[in-house]
Amino acid sequence: MLRNRVLAWHRELRNVHRRLEKALEDALRAIRSGERAQALKPELLDFCYTFCSVLGGHHRSEDSDFFPALLRQMPELEPTITRLRHEHEVLARLLADFQLSLDDPRTTPQRLFQQINDIKAVMKAHFGYEEGSLNRALRGFDAPRSDRDRMFGDV
Ligand SMILES: [Fe+2]
Ligand SMILES: [Fe+2]
Repeated sequence: MLRNRVLAWHRELRNVHRRLEKALEDALRAIRSGERAQALKPELLDFCYTFCSVLGGHHRSEDSDFFPALLRQMPELEPTITRLRHEHEVLARLLADFQLSLDDPRTTPQRLFQQINDIKAVMKAHFGYEEGSLNRALRGFDAPRSDRDRMFGDV
């Protein structure tokens, strides 16, 4: 029982990240098809808004619940968590700029494409560092599965 629960957390973090990468790819595909048409249809824009909302929600949940819970059990993770929080701030700024572009009808699909590719690069590096640096800690992390959405967001 405990073993299953412990194993689930590091796996669950990876699963959440893979779902977020899929949401980004959906948004990227929507922008690419808009590039050909020189405009983005509202239903394609929805993929972009959905991606922004789930990624932002995931990071807010990590900041407010997951990181504090981890630090209570493993205070030695402080430097790692500080770096991860900083990366969240960088991504939040990129997401905010991207959302401003989405809301501005003058934005070209090319501009959106460039912005989402920048987000993709930073996000992938962040996920890689987060998974790698927390993998061992998460195997020993003790928290009920019912805390999952609170810790990782509704992804
Ligand atoms: Fe994160
Ligand atoms: Fe994460």
